[in-house]
Amino acid sequence: MKKIYLDNGATSFPKPKCVGEAVLNYINNLGTSINRGAYETAYSVADTVFETRELICELFNFDQPENVVFTKNITESLNLLIKGLLKEGDHVVVSSMEHNAVMRPLNSLNVKVSKTECNKYGDLDIEDFKSKLKKNTRAVIMTHASNVCGTILNLEEVGRICQEKNIFFIVDTAQTAGFLDIDYKKLKADAIAFTGHKSLLGPQGIGGFIINDRLVEIIPSLIDGGTGSLSEEERQPCYMPDKYEAGTPNIPGIFGLNASIKYLKNTGLENIRQKEYELLKLFLDEIKEINGIAVVGKDTPQGRTGAVSLDFFNHDNGEIAYKLGNDYGIMTRSGMHCAPGAHKTLGTFPRGTVRFSFSHFNTKDEIYYAMESIKKIMEE
Ligand SMILES: Cc1ncc(COP(=O)(O)O)c(C=O)c1O
Repeated sequence: MKKIYLDNGATSFPKPKCVGEAVLNYINNLGTSINRGAYETAYSVADTVFETRELICELFNFDQPENVVFTKNITESLNLLIKGLLKEGDHVVVSSMEHNAVMRPLNSLNVKVSKTECNKYGDLDIEDFKSKLKKNTRAVIMTHASNVCGTILNLEEVGRICQEKNIFFIVDTAQTAGFLDIDYKKLKADAIAFTGHKSLLGPQGIGGFIINDRLVEIIPSLIDGGTGSLSEEERQPCYMPDKYEAGTPNIPGIFGLNASIKYLKNTGLENIRQKEYELLKLFLDEIKEINGIAVVGKDTPQGRTGAVSLDFFNHDNGEIAYKLGNDYGIMTRSGMHCAPGAHKTLGTFPRGTVRFSFSHFNTKDEIYYAMESIKKIMEE
């Protein structure tokens, strides 16, 4: 049976070949830690780690490589930022499309959370957003694109308003980094969190965030320990990035991410988007021809990422995803996608959807095969 991976919204596969090669090269040929050894290989490994911070800067149009922090994933980044910034009684505004990586850390705190309700296509309503802001609103935290239906949120306007009102703005780019051109300056965000293993095409276990100095001043470290720096001190260094990077980092992951970002740069995000939009258009055009299936959210390729949710309304969506995987080798994801609020907005709670999420490595033939498979399941 063919195996077709259409679950890139969860994690991307395949990775460019250079990613595995870079990880292997580090493990087999280099292998040293950073900031801990005074020998040539340790310096060269440290150079690659620093170069990766610079590559992240380039990606986000950010100019402080020392304020690029590595974590194990965006969930850890968001926990550090949310739990470090917010205090009891603070007010926070989020969109109704948030992932649990935002909602669960927020709900673990004694803070008031207001949701600005997106429409059934997942679009933000800026007037509604403005109406949610209060005198004590400390932060706005938003996903850049829905992981359920792919809709991209208009965050530049949100950032402008936050800056005007002196409210901290934190962005979750799990679904957009490596796909959209993200400009820190245009977003006017205080921190942008990313995960390495989705559209950034890096390995699992590496993520991070970029952060400006005014947030660094406020947010304490989440984990304290050895940094290889200031070792005579028993207190966590307060300078960057050491403040937030205690313990030996995921250096194989950073090497993989270094290679994947170079791959993205060489290929060009524009070319990647164009390829994904072609696949998306084909998928959306073809799916409209099959009765009994609704595209959830936008049914056009504009203003969205390569994640499409379908509702097979006379069927159990979980069963459809199971059949696709088991009988046809098509890997998708069903259920809530860790974003129950988004499903409430889109009208698919608690049924959930079947999410097909593409990468530029997919082919038109794979889309045609997916269509044929869906048709066969519908005819059963
Ligand atoms: C919008 C969004 N935020 C956060 C996450 C969490 O990502 P990770 O598991 O890499 O921390 C995801 C992953 O599914 C996501 O789609």
